[in-house]
Amino acid sequence: MTLRQERGHRPGQLRILPRIRTGGLAGSDADLLVVAVEKARRSMPDFLKPLDMAMQGTISRAIATGDLKAGDGTLILYKSSRSGPTRVALIGIGKDSPSGLDQIRKASVTVGGLASSLKARHLAVALESYAGYKLEPSLLSRTIMEGIYYGAYRYDEHLTNPTEGQGPTQIVLELITAGSTMQADRLADGLQQGAIVGTAVNMARTWANRPANLLSPDVLATIARDLARRSRALTCKIHDHKWLARNRMGGILAVGAGSQNRPCLIELRYRTRSGTHRPRIGLVGKAVTFDSGGISIKPSADMDQMKLDKTGGAVVLATMQVIDQLGLDLAVIGLIPAVENLPSGTSYRPGDIITTYAGKTVEVVNTDAEGRLILADALAYAGEQGCKVIVDIATLTGACMVALGKYMAGLMGNDQQLIKQIQQAATLSGEPVWPLPCSDEYAEEIKGKVADLRNTGSKWGGACTAAAFLRQFVGKARWVHLDIAGVDLLEGKGPHQPRGASGFGVRLLSRFLEDLAARA
Ligand code: BES
Ligand code: MN
Ligand code: ZN
Repeated sequence: MTLRQERGHRPGQLRILPRIRTGGLAGSDADLLVVAVEKARRSMPDFLKPLDMAMQGTISRAIATGDLKAGDGTLILYKSSRSGPTRVALIGIGKDSPSGLDQIRKASVTVGGLASSLKARHLAVALESYAGYKLEPSLLSRTIMEGIYYGAYRYDEHLTNPTEGQGPTQIVLELITAGSTMQADRLADGLQQGAIVGTAVNMARTWANRPANLLSPDVLATIARDLARRSRALTCKIHDHKWLARNRMGGILAVGAGSQNRPCLIELRYRTRSGTHRPRIGLVGKAVTFDSGGISIKPSADMDQMKLDKTGGAVVLATMQVIDQLGLDLAVIGLIPAVENLPSGTSYRPGDIITTYAGKTVEVVNTDAEGRLILADALAYAGEQGCKVIVDIATLTGACMVALGKYMAGLMGNDQQLIKQIQQAATLSGEPVWPLPCSDEYAEEIKGKVADLRNTGSKWGGACTAAAFLRQFVGKARWVHLDIAGVDLLEGKGPHQPRGASGFGVRLLSRFLEDLAARA
């Protein structure tokens, strides 16, 4: 695989510099050396013996206490001699998955959080901690890198005072291995992939976290344009409200009508020379920069969180960056309908009948069911642009959160094979999905009397009727829909986890597209 240089970095944004070192742990001079140990263990793994000796038996005594089972399962030990790492973090890991991927990911997120809280600038990870899982080296190092990026992330761009909240902006990450040089090459590949994906995830989180007064549809368009400007394989077109009117994108126009911040449709195209011959893939992301509900206004409690309603769009932008930086051999169009849903004298209203880009008419029953209206236009446009495969991602329904809770995204679609491919990518990437139906029964509920469709169904199964609505606009394309309403917000419950946008979908979509590129 050809990997392009990391170009996503901005000043103030976290960057992790990879190193690989072959040798013993006691020789490391890291601020924080990370060792993962199975929680239930009472005896020390062999590879720790030399370090334990250098630390006068502190490690073996710590493990023998069984304290790794307590609290969050992290123990920090300090050096007692002049050389060696300043701190050793023992991270207790469970038995989440037989492959070890979940354990490694979780431990690495913890490590990132620790690095951020402790302001550690030189991290080292003892790879032998994970030797028992026998993972392919690049998958191992990528998982570690992604996890640390994820855990070290802080949304601090508006803090004027560099205080507690702010983590380091640069971390050196050293993987310590006892392995061969061939393995080192694979490890290095994985670190680079992990850095590309990790930076992109954090960029998506920052865009999603940015409040609506600072990130309106036109600002999102500028971000997309900048992405394309820095890349040879990406091009960007911004379709403004005049274009939307000329092209009769009645869904996007209606939802955007209430705000002074005009709507737009962002179109990013990615193509390599050989990718031209590939079936075109459409990624469609909902970007409602703020969802007040419109005239069907939402209750005010937690309405501030509706700045996150642009997460789908942010995830598509970030994924386009990943595709570009990994140099995937594919033809992809990223489409982001961007609007602000506000009540005003110019808003669309309950009862309005609008004509979508596909020509289908919709009776607006509830102006808060706005996501499906803007996606309808973008999905129909994707089909028209020749996309044979379409994936949309959207914070679409509270009902999906009711159905699945906060850990898994809802997965719907019209093609079992595509659904299976997304499920596989979810397992590998650690962003879990769960299948939900969107069959004809649900479509029946949104059939209209005065227009072709209504934009809401009955009281029940709201995630499914929303997906059934989208399904009417994808034409013959193979399509899947990811409802990320439940997973877009991290509650910040863990000691090192900040509250805010999760960026859910970047790792999943990246993995899905990498697999597609590898398969063909
Ligand atoms: N953006 C919301 C969905 C949402 C709710 C995301 C909570 C994250 C957390 C979406 O636009 C919406 O308002 N959906 C309505 C649809 C209903 C009016 C049919 C909902 O789920 O209540
Ligand atoms: Mn809404
Ligand atoms: Zn919404």
